[in-house]
Amino acid sequence: MTDDVVIGPLDLAARVDDALRVQALAFGLSDDEIAVRRQIVLRHLTHPGARALGATTRDGRLVGFVYGMPNDRGHWWSTVVEPYLRGWGLDGWLDDSFVITELHVRPGYQNRGIGRSLITTVTDAAAEPRSILSAIDTESPARALYRSLGYADLARGVLFPSAPKPYAVMGAPLPLRRPVR
Ligand SMILES: CC(C)(COP(=O)(O)OP(=O)(O)OC[C@H]1O[C@@H](n2cnc3c(N)ncnc32)[C@H](O)[C@@H]1OP(=O)(O)O)[C@@H](O)C(=O)NCCC(=O)NCCS
Repeated sequence: MTDDVVIGPLDLAARVDDALRVQALAFGLSDDEIAVRRQIVLRHLTHPGARALGATTRDGRLVGFVYGMPNDRGHWWSTVVEPYLRGWGLDGWLDDSFVITELHVRPGYQNRGIGRSLITTVTDAAAEPRSILSAIDTESPARALYRSLGYADLARGVLFPSAPKPYAVMGAPLPLRRPVR
């Protein structure tokens, strides 16, 4: 990891606009999508156990963030993915699982170990024995990162209402796998 960036707890409610700017640059979000995401993030932060970490430069600029929460089968995300997992007898992954809701690193700061550090640090503090997430179902740096951490595909071709592209749902035992050096 680069030593000019510090990973630490993030007051995501206070920094939601900074975080969405990072997400917009990393993932591509229109202004309308940012406005919708803003409400969703603030609602997520009211869920029990929701936690966020930020990657911040020495001068206080947010360049990456992750947040997640213990899964609840009543949450919208869980209700969408549940039938896909149930089809393969894998819906037990929805219990006692820490969901990674968002992980983004600002272009220019990517591929320097920040994303790996964010997701391992947030899951290391989870009480749950496993973690689940969804990622766009293509080969991408995100999918490569998740696989290297021990996440395996639980379902593919998962369609979220209003999302144009299919997603893969992935799950990993905790703690996440460390690279063999
Ligand atoms: C996915 C993302 C968060 C990873 O963050 P990052 O700080 O760039 O990742 P790291 O530097 O920690 O890289 C860790 C691993 O990711 C993979 N990776 C990172 N950049 C990559 C690239 N350009 N091509 C292929 N794999 C890449 C590699 O497996 C790498 O492992 P290695 O260091 O052992 O080679 C970042 O690329 C990003 O924000 N992407 C756009 C938004 C996004 O897709 N978010 C995830 C939504 S599910």
